[in-house]
Amino acid sequence: MAAIPQVSLIGCEKSMPVIGMGTSSYPPADLETAKTAILEAIKAGYRHFDTAFAYGSEKPLGEAIAEALTLGLIKSRDDLFITTKLWCSFAQRDQIVPTCKMSLQNIKLDYVDLYLIHMPLRLSQMIQKTPVDKEIIHPLDVKGVWEGMEECQKLGLTKAIGVSNFSCKKLEEVLSIAKIPPAVNQVEINPAWQQKQLREFCKAKGIHITAYSPLGANNTNWGDNRIIESDVLADIAKARGKTTAQH
Ligand SMILES: NC(=O)c1ccc[n+]([C@@H]2O[C@H](COP(=O)([O-])OP(=O)(O)OC[C@H]3O[C@@H](n4cnc5c(N)ncnc54)[C@H](OP(=O)(O)O)[C@@H]3O)[C@@H](O)[C@H]2O)c1
Repeated sequence: MAAIPQVSLIGCEKSMPVIGMGTSSYPPADLETAKTAILEAIKAGYRHFDTAFAYGSEKPLGEAIAEALTLGLIKSRDDLFITTKLWCSFAQRDQIVPTCKMSLQNIKLDYVDLYLIHMPLRLSQMIQKTPVDKEIIHPLDVKGVWEGMEECQKLGLTKAIGVSNFSCKKLEEVLSIAKIPPAVNQVEINPAWQQKQLREFCKAKGIHITAYSPLGANNTNWGDNRIIESDVLADIAKARGKTTAQH
């Protein structure tokens, strides 16, 4: 695998490889399958892994990291960039630090590199599947939750903090009260859903945008085959000797 370019994040001494491996799968993979996939990714050269409490992939990621160290695939944990996310059921001021510590325990790490608010909302119950009942969806206490995220960074539980699925309006709210600005906004972006306004906003504010579902998320929850099956994208890729996904 060619060297993966890195990007600097505001407020973070460690740079982030711009290509990472997502660890979410639906239905969730069993622990051994997930661990093996992550180990293979490390062998292939991936150094950035994206997990979340909600994915159930924190534990297999932790086991894969431990095994990669034992096998000498990486010299130290610092060789990896690990992102995890605060799930909406824990999105209250007093739950942020304990929830971050719970994720660290799952991954068996002292710190993650990036801790994100998974979504700009709070759920008053744990959920097993989507869609969820409207009654359990509540507005996010942006100030309280962001203070909790900042505390995680100050305590050294994470090197950087950020958000996911935030609009320009929601980001304005965070920026208006933040002592540490969000380093990243992880959102859905693909050739058919380019989020131009959000990208321009984030660029102006120094917030790095990470794209998820860049190939269009053809899964049972959302998404379709429009990217992978696009004739235009296939022609562009073919001209460069690549598959659509590679390009
Ligand atoms: N922050 C958030 O709210 C959020 C939301 C969604 C995802 N994410 C993150 O983003 C990661 C990636 O999500 P994703 O939706 O892109 O899921 P994905 O399962 O990695 O890929 C989605 C689709 O792309 C296809 N695909 C993947 N690699 C391909 C290849 N090399 N050639 C052809 N088709 C390929 C898959 O096809 P097959 O099914 O045939 O393999 C699947 O249909 C997740 O694991 C998670 O870490 C974050």
